[in-house]
Amino acid sequence: MTQGLDPTEKIKDWKSIRDDFPILNKEINGHQLVYLDNAASSQKPQVVIDAIRKHYEDNNANVHRGIHELSNRATETYEASRRRVAKYLNAARPEEVIFTRGTTESINLVAHSWGQSNICAGDTILLTEMEHHSNLVPWQIMAKRIGAKLEFISVTGDDGLLDLTDLDEKLDRAKILAFTHFSNTLGSINPVKELCQRARKAEVVSLVDAAQSAGHTTIDVQEIDCDFLAFSGHKICGPTGIGVLYGKKEQLEEMPPYQGGGEMISKVEYLESTFNVIPHKFEAGTPNIAGAAGLHTAIDYIDRIGLSAIFKHDQHLANQTVKRLQEIDGIRIFGPDNQRSAVVSFVLQDAHALDLATMADQKGIAIRAGHHCNQPLLTKLGVPSTARASFNFYNTESEVDRFIEVIQQVQKMFV
Ligand code: ALA
Repeated sequence: MTQGLDPTEKIKDWKSIRDDFPILNKEINGHQLVYLDNAASSQKPQVVIDAIRKHYEDNNANVHRGIHELSNRATETYEASRRRVAKYLNAARPEEVIFTRGTTESINLVAHSWGQSNICAGDTILLTEMEHHSNLVPWQIMAKRIGAKLEFISVTGDDGLLDLTDLDEKLDRAKILAFTHFSNTLGSINPVKELCQRARKAEVVSLVDAAQSAGHTTIDVQEIDCDFLAFSGHKICGPTGIGVLYGKKEQLEEMPPYQGGGEMISKVEYLESTFNVIPHKFEAGTPNIAGAAGLHTAIDYIDRIGLSAIFKHDQHLANQTVKRLQEIDGIRIFGPDNQRSAVVSFVLQDAHALDLATMADQKGIAIRAGHHCNQPLLTKLGVPSTARASFNFYNTESEVDRFIEVIQQVQKMFV
């Protein structure tokens, strides 16, 4: 078990970590599971599963409402999780952490609430060509409603880099720059601090989509100096249905509520209401208290392993995979040669990505095939789908070997 590890320690025996994850010992289709779909969702260690169960067994009640013991415990569970997330992101204050259902809801919250009071007809919203649908569609809906425009920072090609040559001109026209930190499709690592700093210099608000980076590298929102940052609990070993929107206090205080209901109000009359202070103003209704308990434990767990060790391990497996794939004839690999995150996307000349994923599944190997919620980018790259292997700290080199063996078998069948 990994409990009690020194956070600065570099872990050598990554395989022992696997024992913390009950699902990793399971067989799928008669084979030991190889889970390489971590960009879609991560697996959960036993401590997270236990934390959720413990909440329901010992502390379950609603938050911020009762004066009874269980309600106090539920409130403390929930608010302790908020404080833990604030520490994880190095936010200046816990009230800058809003709990949402996930990255998608966090971005929708900003698009609706911040957008409603800051974007006017004719204004420009600046995105990149590599945004997944969660950081594209909310802005499309908002732009259409208001009559605003979308503009994009270009992706250079298969190498998955952002073309920043005309960034300053684009920023001059923009009200907000919303971009992904790590690409879910290309594995690119975008220069988050530089982008946020250049946005701030141009007086443009910045939003970082950290869905793919939050559990894989250290994030310091004060150092990055972003206005908003979003991530999902389920991609960092926490439960589904809980995520985070970080927002600078000055921004959040100025923004109107996103949804109405209990918790987010201060005083309610028949014809009008006043609203609660942040963060509660953005948390209408009963929140995901058990999810917050699980997220808290997931963050403790990840921090015990150490984000710099996780980042190195991810990169090692991704680079190893790229190197092995490059030996296969007729393969096209997407993403940067250097500085790749935990994601490797590719297409085989003679076999469809869906066939490859189906064959892999028959051998107990889970990968994703398709457009990865990133249809416009794949259209730009001229492919309908790719096969994608995405890693986490519990994956091993021998799992890469098993994955490569399947690709070699598929290659033989289709050529
Ligand atoms: N954005 C998630 C993925 O990349 C769903 O799989």
